[in-house]
Amino acid sequence: MSEKEHRVSRRQFLNYTLTGVGGFMAAGIIMPMARFALDPVLKKEAGTDMVAVTQVKDITNEPKRFDFKVKVVDGWYKSEETKSAWVFKHESGDIIALSPVCKHLGCTVNWGGDKAHPNQFYCPCHGGRYDKDGINIKGTPPLAPLDVYQSQVKDGTLYLGKAKPHGGA
Ligand code: FES
Repeated sequence: MSEKEHRVSRRQFLNYTLTGVGGFMAAGIIMPMARFALDPVLKKEAGTDMVAVTQVKDITNEPKRFDFKVKVVDGWYKSEETKSAWVFKHESGDIIALSPVCKHLGCTVNWGGDKAHPNQFYCPCHGGRYDKDGINIKGTPPLAPLDVYQSQVKDGTLYLGKAKPHGGA
């Protein structure tokens, strides 16, 4: 082997070594950054799971408030959030679960909270009212019906999912 061939070979070896080490170091820096940026996007959307709320036998024709906890994932931060629903058995036999969040400015509504309108949901903040189905009463501040929770009954238990706009559940 000539000396010239030997020099070229060493240069190539150095090139390969530096490229390999450089690539390895670049991957070590880029991979955690890429994972940090993409992981929350690739993860399953938080709060999509149905949560057991109550036994169906405890649901009556009169709206009753039930509190339940949902797991919330924000990036890598996991926590539990308490939610509420006004649940009742509709004349049709369906179980309805309404969000208690007023569609005016977000206060919490109560069933029968206004003595003058005992069979309605009442928001004490600005006097907003909704009928039993959660439809906003004309002439009161809310401009939309209460949101409705996605619901499912399994083995005598009511499960609730996300609250969606009325008619969109
Ligand atoms: S927040 Fe409910 S009426 Fe205004």
